[in-house]
Amino acid sequence: MAYKALYRTYRPKTFSEVVGQRAIIKTLKNSIAQDKIAHAYLFCGPRGTGKTSMARLFAKALNCSTGQGNQCNKCENCLAIMNGNHPDVYEIDAASNSGVENVRNLIEQVGFAPIMGRYKVYIIDEVHSMSPSAFNALLKTLEEPPANVVFILATTEPNKVLPTILSRVQRYDFTKVSDKDIVLRMKQILETEGIEYEESALKLIARMADGGVRDALSLLDQAISYCADKIKEKEIYSLFGLLQIEDKINIIRFCHLNDVKSALELVRKKADEGADIVRLHDDLINIYKDLLIYGTTKDSSLLECLKPEEASPITISTTEIRRDLDILIQARRNYKNVINVLDEFELTIIKISMKPEGEQEKSKVAIEKSEPSLKSSLEHIEKTEPKNSEINNPTPSIKSEPISSSEHTIIRSSALSNDDLKEGEGASVIIDEKTIINIMVQGNKKMKQNLIKDWKNQLETILPSDRLYYLSKSLLKCLPAIACDEVIVVKTFFKGVASNLNLLSNQENLTVLMRDLFNLEDIRVVALQNSKYIDFVNTFMNYNQANSLPKPEKIVLRNSNQNDEQGSEGKTNAQNFVESLGI
Ligand SMILES: Nc1ncnc2c1ncn2[C@@H]1O[C@H](COP(=O)(O)OP(=O)(O)OP(=O)(O)O)[C@@H](O)[C@H]1O
Ligand SMILES: [Mg+2]
Ligand SMILES: [Zn+2]
Repeated sequence: MAYKALYRTYRPKTFSEVVGQRAIIKTLKNSIAQDKIAHAYLFCGPRGTGKTSMARLFAKALNCSTGQGNQCNKCENCLAIMNGNHPDVYEIDAASNSGVENVRNLIEQVGFAPIMGRYKVYIIDEVHSMSPSAFNALLKTLEEPPANVVFILATTEPNKVLPTILSRVQRYDFTKVSDKDIVLRMKQILETEGIEYEESALKLIARMADGGVRDALSLLDQAISYCADKIKEKEIYSLFGLLQIEDKINIIRFCHLNDVKSALELVRKKADEGADIVRLHDDLINIYKDLLIYGTTKDSSLLECLKPEEASPITISTTEIRRDLDILIQARRNYKNVINVLDEFELTIIKISMKPEGEQEKSKVAIEKSEPSLKSSLEHIEKTEPKNSEINNPTPSIKSEPISSSEHTIIRSSALSNDDLKEGEGASVIIDEKTIINIMVQGNKKMKQNLIKDWKNQLETILPSDRLYYLSKSLLKCLPAIACDEVIVVKTFFKGVASNLNLLSNQENLTVLMRDLFNLEDIRVVALQNSKYIDFVNTFMNYNQANSLPKPEKIVLRNSNQNDEQGSEGKTNAQNFVESLGI
């Protein structure tokens, strides 16, 4: 049987199982209690925050046989809605081809009375991508809606919904769910599953999910498979390539001691272990933000990522913090234009370490006084890390810049806008469902098995002196998942490893590695995180069951730099790619 992801198993069955979105639930409940049910609702908001779930819950509350407003989950109406086979509840994906036909046909039958329940409910997902003909049919119906029909339109992009529709619906804006609520939902699920956890581990997962409950549950799924008996904070760090707070603080300390060498060595060590560099960059911004807030207010209740005992020994002046934050925020914007994220990050670290003259000694003394254990950290790195001859302790210095004398400046909140923090992170291969399903359709099981058999042995033949050593180490954290003549898809637990392998800057070398190690000519390698791979396998199975797998097509891997990399006729995609790189 196909593996069922947690987020699918645990779709909320009652309003009380929904986390966040309280105002929406209250209004919907009231409208049912007062029998003031609108004909059309628009549920909009970020992905995975409960729009489809809420639509189904509302359909149940309208139709439950034990009474309007209930969700007994036992009556024939509730059960049919949960199983997706209620004759009066239609779920249509307006973005798919079949959706277009469905919308028109179903809306044409909208005038017929419900068969089994009290209301006919039409849940139309991705309504912004509806075809014009379906749209017109919908519009006509919304102008003169029949009794006992409720439309629930859902979208992540309300700005793309036409004003003619918007003016005829009651709009509900779903919001990102707070970390606290996400942790609550994860706890409920883990307790039902009888899985032990450390609360701090769940907090980390919630933070990574950035307000999306579905994302949180996918991450939790991976954590469950990774952690043997109990979900532990420490294992979450290694699973997702996160750095421990001490490591991040040490990076900041090294910078302020002008110890570029140790800072870079620590960063490279962590990158080697699969750390997600962009996340690390964001975390440093958040630590600096905490330091700034703590430095100016001394109020530990305002700290978001540091504990008071972590914040108080760091005595960097607010002027310096502000300067470093400016550098970090500026560099964060650059990621979308750079090919190698690690290079960019290292440059940023060097910039931060370049103190204006006169400031150097001051901060060195302050930090050494404040943190005796730092010396042992330094020694630890010296001991555990091989010397890297490329880094020659540049101890750079720059001319003193005039710095604002205010020690109490708070950074503009706009400087930390979410958009800045979420921007692209270096050009990489785009991996979408269509492409992966197309590769799966052409998958060659024998080839995959042969690759798996030799994978470790071959990759371990690459020596540390080889320029491809770094890549081979990343590949050792992956296993081939799908193989066909043109592409190998590898899967990994590590998000950082997957995104790093998919960077365009690494693609050429991966092709070279596959040729040298496995005698495969012109083959591309792309990486998927395990959870994504599982999602794709599920989608593949669903297509397969419905007998609607697409026919094999030429594989075209697009990248985030180009909207369309359609290969020229007669050439394989790998050839096109290799040519485009000039090799
Ligand atoms: N607010 C929430 N409370 C509890 N679980 C949630 C919530 N939001 C999402 N989930 C979980 O995530 C899964 C997906 O949620 P849902 O399909 O409702 O999201 P959506 O907002 O419709 O996403 P999309 O925009 O991608 O369609 C659910 O099955 C459930 O497990
Ligand atoms: Mg949805
Ligand atoms: Zn019921």
